[in-house]
Amino acid sequence: MSTLDPAEIHAIIQEYGGNATQLVQILWKIQDKYTYIPDMALTTLAQTLNLSPTHIEGVISFYSFFNRTPREYDIFFSDNIIEHMNGKTHLMTLLMQKLGVEKDKVREDGRVCIRDAACIGMADHPPAALINGLPVTHLDEAKINQIAMWIEAQHPISEWDSDYFQVDNHIQKTNILLGLDFENGSAIKAAMNTTAEKVIAELTAANLRGCGGAGFKLASKWLLCRNAPGEHYMVCNADEGEPGTFKDRVLLQSYPDLMIEGMTVGARVIGAKKGFIYLRAEYRYLRPILEAALQKRREQNLLGDHILGDADFSFDIEIHLGAGAYICGAETALLESLEGKRGVPRKRPPPFPVSEGYLQQPTVVNNVETLSFAAKILALGAQRFIALGTAQSKGTKLISVSGDCAKPGIYEIPFGTTVRKMLEWCEADIDNVQAVQNSGAAGVCLSPEEFDRQLAFEDINTTGSFMIFSKERNLLDMIHNFANFFVHESCGFCTPCRVGTSLLKNYVEKVIAGNATGADLEEMKHISHLMKTTSHCGLGMTASNYIADTLTKFPALYEACLKHQSLTPSFDLDAALEDSRQITHRDDAAAHIG
Ligand SMILES: Cc1cc2nc3c(=O)[nH]c(=O)nc-3n(C[C@H](O)[C@H](O)[C@H](O)COP(=O)(O)O)c2cc1C
Ligand code: SF4
Repeated sequence: MSTLDPAEIHAIIQEYGGNATQLVQILWKIQDKYTYIPDMALTTLAQTLNLSPTHIEGVISFYSFFNRTPREYDIFFSDNIIEHMNGKTHLMTLLMQKLGVEKDKVREDGRVCIRDAACIGMADHPPAALINGLPVTHLDEAKINQIAMWIEAQHPISEWDSDYFQVDNHIQKTNILLGLDFENGSAIKAAMNTTAEKVIAELTAANLRGCGGAGFKLASKWLLCRNAPGEHYMVCNADEGEPGTFKDRVLLQSYPDLMIEGMTVGARVIGAKKGFIYLRAEYRYLRPILEAALQKRREQNLLGDHILGDADFSFDIEIHLGAGAYICGAETALLESLEGKRGVPRKRPPPFPVSEGYLQQPTVVNNVETLSFAAKILALGAQRFIALGTAQSKGTKLISVSGDCAKPGIYEIPFGTTVRKMLEWCEADIDNVQAVQNSGAAGVCLSPEEFDRQLAFEDINTTGSFMIFSKERNLLDMIHNFANFFVHESCGFCTPCRVGTSLLKNYVEKVIAGNATGADLEEMKHISHLMKTTSHCGLGMTASNYIADTLTKFPALYEACLKHQSLTPSFDLDAALEDSRQITHRDDAAAHIG
């Protein structure tokens, strides 16, 4: 940790051109230097960037990963339900005991702080934690003891056993995206050999739909942006925060060229000179890989000025780090964060980012996987893609499988694959599976009656998280975990979500304590409905799905806990199917323009 020096803060601000839109990046740089954001920095920032100290405090406090007090070791345990199922609470408590530290408090000597992080994208390596930004995986008591000793001995983290930081891809099934070779530059060349209209026609033929959740058609999005007047921007959403998903992590770590190539082709189509990769702070350790890929592509003239010799085609990409906020995965919150502000979602579109996005200019925001598919389709042709899938869902999809199965990991599956098939592939004991939570906390909880349903836009839409719960699990643990997640991740801007998430958490705890009545369950349904219909953004609209779903499909779970009065709803598969086909997905806005 350095001593405080205002000149250093000035130098950092200048490095970012004294530009207030870079505030989140500047705060990171300051925190990297001092391990926290000191008051002195705040004052200097306010003066130099012409912002009020309150505004800057507001930005800092919005993000979980910014600190206002120093520490040497900043430890975040992944708080996903899958980590809980693998002993997270016990291991976190053990480490706190060994180090004599209370949760969320910096130890008196200022050396160590231990906290929760929602889900760090390691559900295939549970339990996991981030220590000073580096993932430590497959934690057990022996590792916790060793980590405690290293910390007390002030053994530099760079000298810890590298096995502790092992992150594997766990790719279990490949297809077009992960299985076929890709020559860097091939998609760009294909795009350069034809017109933007023909690129859009090819992507239309492929019917590629966004993999970030809303399933908006890629070709339409690029076309809308291309036709909007202004300075165009291309943004990659690498904020993968939905509990249980880790497929973008694997793409970023091992296939970065695909995503960058997709961005570059997109830039050519929409006419962007500048792009951003919005990288979640939990994946910060991947930044050097991405920087190296970007640099190599600049050297190969696949990025930068006059790409492949075309005087009219220049495009470059900057990496922007998030700072620990699930809501920043929602595209308008992401854009706010990219502009250096709190990640509060903008007012409900229209206007959409394609016409008023970054700095109010036309902007495409695409998920890592969507962009990777775009590159692959342009290199191989749409025919390869549409040969797989269903009528409305062409091609393949990456699924992150975790929980109770023998083979967690990444499965590239043709759209239309049934839940049952997925369970067979990952070697789950199907007769003993109680539920599958699809698409993370905001998704849908599937009961065994639904295992013959298909993963496809026309049936079960999926962001790619597939968490399996055996009959030995208490589903109330999952419900409680999601309740906590949404209380933590609600940005607090609107009342239905801010208050609704807290009320639901209280009711869930009342159920677990055995103090709830049938009237409480009715109230939970009522609150769920209000949140769905009146929240400002997709987070609030889907933050009660798990309550509505489990009350309908697993009534016995609640009934067993009731104080008195019995609950009698029975599971109606037709009604559940109808319900899940409606727009229950978190990204209502983008879904509507689809
Ligand atoms: C609360 C919330 C969280 C989201 N998180 C992500 C995310 O982590 N990654 C992502 O690509 N899209 C996420 N989305 C969807 C984005 O808003 C947006 O639809 C997506 O980035 C568009 O890219 P696509 O068309 O390629 O899917 C989220 C939406 C909401 C409402
Ligand atoms: S719904 Fe929730 S996350 Fe969205 S704006 Fe309202 S409080 Fe924020």
